Amino acid sequence: MTERQAQHDILVKPSHDERARQELCQAMRSHLLGDVQAGTETIFESRVHPAFKKENGRAMKDRHEIRRAMTPDPFYRVFSASLRSTQELMWDSVIDTVEREMPRLQTEYKKLHNQAKGTLTLDPDLDIPRYHAAADIHLQPGGYHTDLAEDDLSAGAIFDRALYIYGDGKFGPYSDAMGHMVSGQVKALYPDFAPKRILDMGCTSGNSTLVYVDAFPEAEVHAIDIGAPCLRYAHARAETLNKTVHFAQANAAETQYEDESFDLIVSHILFHETGRSALTNIMRECHRLLKPGGMMVHLDIPQDRHCEKMYESFLWDWEAYNNNETFAVVLRSLDYEEEAVTAGFVRDDVSIEDVAVGWPLLVGKKAA
Ligand SMILES: C[S@@+](CC[C@H](N)C(=O)[O-])C[C@H]1O[C@@H](n2cnc3c(N)ncnc32)[C@H](O)[C@@H]1O
Repeated sequence: MTERQAQHDILVKPSHDERARQELCQAMRSHLLGDVQAGTETIFESRVHPAFKKENGRAMKDRHEIRRAMTPDPFYRVFSASLRSTQELMWDSVIDTVEREMPRLQTEYKKLHNQAKGTLTLDPDLDIPRYHAAADIHLQPGGYHTDLAEDDLSAGAIFDRALYIYGDGKFGPYSDAMGHMVSGQVKALYPDFAPKRILDMGCTSGNSTLVYVDAFPEAEVHAIDIGAPCLRYAHARAETLNKTVHFAQANAAETQYEDESFDLIVSHILFHETGRSALTNIMRECHRLLKPGGMMVHLDIPQDRHCEKMYESFLWDWEAYNNNETFAVVLRSLDYEEEAVTAGFVRDDVSIEDVAVGWPLLVGKKAA
């Protein structure tokens, strides 16, 4: 049994009926990703793979062959369509609450902003990358960046509540497990490392960002995202939770910071939602922004090479093909280390550290 989502002034408060709908989505996802998903593997082993072997005289060689063979299977189709519908229902159910709560959230936001210790710098002229504007990533209507009104914070409010439902609470009451994974691993690997300035790239509602305020109390913590409504929400959330963070609207591939501004740059599941050239440019920007001896640390979903079973790897691609996380399928086969070397890091200073549940952490240290 997971703990309930931690309450604070800027988190939406669902009514009884809204909560019931949201918890139904949470339970549906959990059921589909539990017994039903396990059932798809049984179907694969018992009928789809044997039929493939009979027809081709060999076993399947990769996750793409599994996907092509599983897609027409009736059991898999019911699983996949139900998961997609649950995702749509999740947004619907949360958006109802956010729309109803918006006047209260706006009032709270203004109050928190006026007495803030941290800062918020927005750039209304920022170009939204095409990979964001062209499709609603993981089906969130309007994505991370669409402003629906003046001083809008709905995208952040929606994301914060939906992330908890999507993760079935497994990211913790503050949905900050990824921040703990990364900061914990940095401390374990480099116990003497004491960053003075930290940047979190692709912070969304700042859930992971806030962990760094406590993990490195001597450091000044900065966070960027392309989405203004996420940043307004993140700023208010940080203030109400009494954490000082400097948020700015910026493209991680091309920021406004000076060379060698940071000792530590982190990201949490940013890369799988970017694009091929964006990933290269973000790593180059990390190299430019790091002080000599500084470190970039990026956490993302398991790559093909990190999956013990080909079937598990195929399941990880579901989001790419059915949930508008298009780039994830490319990222999952990418040579991360080579990308970092192309961006300027020395090969011996780049490593992949496996953290909990097999999620890889790319670590790149800038030469001193
Ligand atoms: C999956 S979310 C990250 C979740 C968040 N880091 C957390 O720990 O909860 C990806 C975020 O990256 C942002 N993003 C994508 N491309 C970006 C870019 N080029 N520069 C800055 N932010 C970007 C998106 O707007 C989105 O908020």
